[in-house]
Amino acid sequence: MDLFRAVPGVKCGRIGVRAQTGYGDTSFSQALHNGDSLFLVCRQHQNVHDKVYSRCKKRRQMPFYCFIIHTNFYKMRAMSTTLDRYIQNLIVTEPLMQPLFKEAIQALDLPPGSRGLDVGCGIGFQCLLLADAVGPEGHVTGLDITPEFLTYGAEMIKNSGFMSRVTLENGDMNALPFGDNTFDWLWSANCAGYPAREPLPMVKELARVIKPGGKIALLIYASQMLLPGYPALEARLNATPAGIAPFTAEMKPETHHMRVLGWFQRAGLEDVSVQTFVGGFHSPLSDEIRSAVEALFDMRWGSAEPEMRQEEWALFRRLTKPNSPEYILNLPGYYGFIAVSMFRGKVV
Ligand SMILES: C[S@@+](CC[C@H](N)C(=O)[O-])C[C@H]1O[C@@H](n2cnc3c(N)ncnc32)[C@H](O)[C@@H]1O
Repeated sequence: MDLFRAVPGVKCGRIGVRAQTGYGDTSFSQALHNGDSLFLVCRQHQNVHDKVYSRCKKRRQMPFYCFIIHTNFYKMRAMSTTLDRYIQNLIVTEPLMQPLFKEAIQALDLPPGSRGLDVGCGIGFQCLLLADAVGPEGHVTGLDITPEFLTYGAEMIKNSGFMSRVTLENGDMNALPFGDNTFDWLWSANCAGYPAREPLPMVKELARVIKPGGKIALLIYASQMLLPGYPALEARLNATPAGIAPFTAEMKPETHHMRVLGWFQRAGLEDVSVQTFVGGFHSPLSDEIRSAVEALFDMRWGSAEPEMRQEEWALFRRLTKPNSPEYILNLPGYYGFIAVSMFRGKVV
């Protein structure tokens, strides 16, 4: 399944713009109609994006929202709100994350026809993968606390043809709007593993809605290696508050997201285990992967500057700025990886 085809804004069959290289900005803006969404998956320089933006604006083509995925997406003026950016991050990193999530779903071996809950589903990318895994007789309920993500996700699910197999609901994982023993299994990627408060009540709340014998799987972004040849710089970046987020130095070690096994044991789950999935990527990088890695540079370390020495930060910028001669993703022998850990337990 190509999830990008399901993303709202890509008008497949009409103007499904999927630029690999080359600018083509004139054709983009000419292809657009007033109110259309401009959705670019490409690598271009900021000034070219500015050109696209100003041409569209001159022709009054700027839509209500405009998702533009590109190298410097965080600088794009068209991005109006934090939520838009958040959605963008989910979309742009999806090509890196999806293979790992698919592997994890396969390892879970969900029963065909079963009914599951995706907690903190965001815009619903994994709802679709999970629904695919349980087949046409199965069902997935995606729950998220942010209504805007669900609105976006509903459109994506409609476009994907999975409407009867996925339902999205607004709610909080700390007080789930479902009765006891409602679902056969529960999945939560990059959400329930990062509880804002004490994790135990939250794990018990998750377990409450799962039938005895059902599995709970929490997936957590575990680590990465993105700057080969610069281990000291990468270690420094990882040691900053941005690098350890959402954990903070003030939090108790047992609330850290790599301590989920302990939470599961204390909540009385059985068959508790963990498996880590690693996704590597190397040059030549596809445009999608390149954009995803660029987004990770920003998401992981973009706000680390105050904690870094000036020369360290300057080096980081030289290595990660696309127009820099030292741009690391242009290395002919570039290699990097990310890792996602899946913590599992069985409800008794
Ligand atoms: C990093 S996103 C992950 C989204 C999705 N699972 C994915 O991997 O694409 C975290 C999501 O958790 C949601 N979230 C945060 N706190 C929540 C809560 N207390 N209850 C339900 N959802 C929550 C956010 O709104 C956001 O959509």
